Amino acid sequence: MQDGAEPFHYALIMVARSQEELAGIRAAGALVRSVFDRMKAAARAGVRTLELDVIAGDLFAAAGARSAPRHFYDFPGHTCISVNEQAAHGIPGRRKLRDGDMVNIDVSVELNGYVADMGESFVVGRGRRAQQRICEAVRRAVLDAAANARAGESLNVIGNTVQRVADRQGYGIVRNLGSHGVGRSLHEEPSYVPLANPSERRTLQEGLVLTIEPFFTTGRTWVEEGRDGWTLSVSPGALVAQFEHTIIVGPDGAEIVTA
Ligand code: CO
Ligand code: CO
Repeated sequence: MQDGAEPFHYALIMVARSQEELAGIRAAGALVRSVFDRMKAAARAGVRTLELDVIAGDLFAAAGARSAPRHFYDFPGHTCISVNEQAAHGIPGRRKLRDGDMVNIDVSVELNGYVADMGESFVVGRGRRAQQRICEAVRRAVLDAAANARAGESLNVIGNTVQRVADRQGYGIVRNLGSHGVGRSLHEEPSYVPLANPSERRTLQEGLVLTIEPFFTTGRTWVEEGRDGWTLSVSPGALVAQFEHTIIVGPDGAEIVTA
């Protein structure tokens, strides 16, 4: 899950220093990854998005975890499931997936006081080459940015890396969806939009826990909220794809805890 637009100022920032903190974040990361994988494996034509969300609810309960969007924001679902031009915060419901739908599942949990957040866009069935291509591009951008996220670098190293991939492959980056610190709450400092920003002055500290979650699109580079008060969409017919990991900044690049 992500949050709309700058400027946001959150109260918390997590810099994981103790083994206990690192273990807590890693455990939350491993849980969201396993839940996401189970949901994705079940995402076939004919399946309702609510059925996928039920899988997450059951797995969270079994693990003693809580859905982060529900716990922190009262979101009406355990996870966010956004289809086609919906970029984020789609509410799980009766909609049945169809072959060729592009789906984004975003999973975030609180487990023993630690929070991790991840998401991926993928195509149901075979889809079109253009759909596969945008999903692969945004994934590449996040992995490259995580590799460059070293302690002591500017926070902007992430935006620069993401922007380079987007420019090279001809995609726009949605400007009113932010990436964010995470770890103790769902949205912490630093709040930032992952694109090149020469005025960025913040620095990556060792142990900083944050997400990298760009949204690439072929349409307008902003999202608008739907009538349900949650769903954020780009223009009809445009492609949009998100990829999100939670990372811990280290001296030689980041550890991806949701890999
Ligand atoms: Co997320
Ligand atoms: Co997020």
